[in-house]
Amino acid sequence: MNNYEFCARWVQDQHPPGDARVLDYGCGAGQIVDELRRRDVTAFGCDVFYDGGDYSGQVDAARFASGVIRRIEDGRIPFDDASFDFVINNQVMEHVEDLDAVLREIARVLKPGGVVLSLFPDRGVWREGHCGIPLLHRFAKGSRLRVHYAVLMRLLGFGYFTGTKTRRQWSEDFCVWLDQWTHYRSLDEIRASYARHLGSLRHREEDWLARRLEGRPLPLALVPRAVQRLIVRKLGGLVFEARRAPSSG
Ligand SMILES: C[S@@+](CC[C@H](N)C(=O)[O-])C[C@H]1O[C@@H](n2cnc3c(N)ncnc32)[C@H](O)[C@@H]1O
Repeated sequence: MNNYEFCARWVQDQHPPGDARVLDYGCGAGQIVDELRRRDVTAFGCDVFYDGGDYSGQVDAARFASGVIRRIEDGRIPFDDASFDFVINNQVMEHVEDLDAVLREIARVLKPGGVVLSLFPDRGVWREGHCGIPLLHRFAKGSRLRVHYAVLMRLLGFGYFTGTKTRRQWSEDFCVWLDQWTHYRSLDEIRASYARHLGSLRHREEDWLARRLEGRPLPLALVPRAVQRLIVRKLGGLVFEARRAPSSG
């Protein structure tokens, strides 16, 4: 099961999804929206379609025309207040410069008691997911050392890339991309930001692992849950929910 299916199954597992409205924040080409709509869930998507990797050309034109997928402009999610039961975001928050501003907007469009599902790596992840090189995201932005390190790692066979660039050129260019388009945060910073706008985190890494390994004869039950959680966080990223407080009225 891939992340798109995981997100769709997560929505279906909510009790009861009924006629729930779902927003995929940072929807990219819209695969999660498609996955949900195939399951008769009322799903929408929105994205800034940033220059770090703009997927808007891959979005079905009908999705834009019907308003199912919308472009975020001036930081505002183009949907009404309290209009969604669930907001999903998959591999988006590590690209967001101002996490507080984004979470404020997500909290605005969520209904009271609504839930966010987030999947993304924190700074503690061991492998930079966009290139596969261990710890490349831990270097200070702009440091020369990170370029030399990337070249060395590529020489040693780490990382994945396609194209014809030399190792050095690829390393120079990729580090510039990483500086400009990623904002890795510590788990504590992430927790604090979600707590300010939504609520405390409810970790779901074990569920994610179980779903990813579904159908494979692996004795997952023998591995303590804390270890499963750590493996997912360090090798992939965080998977968690956060709930907007129910209305007090
Ligand atoms: C790695 S892609 C993931 C796309 C999609 N969620 C998926 O799983 O296929 C990251 C996406 O985050 C979007 N993005 C980056 N910064 C954003 C922001 N501040 N607000 C909303 N979307 C953002 C990008 O435009 C891009 O589509």
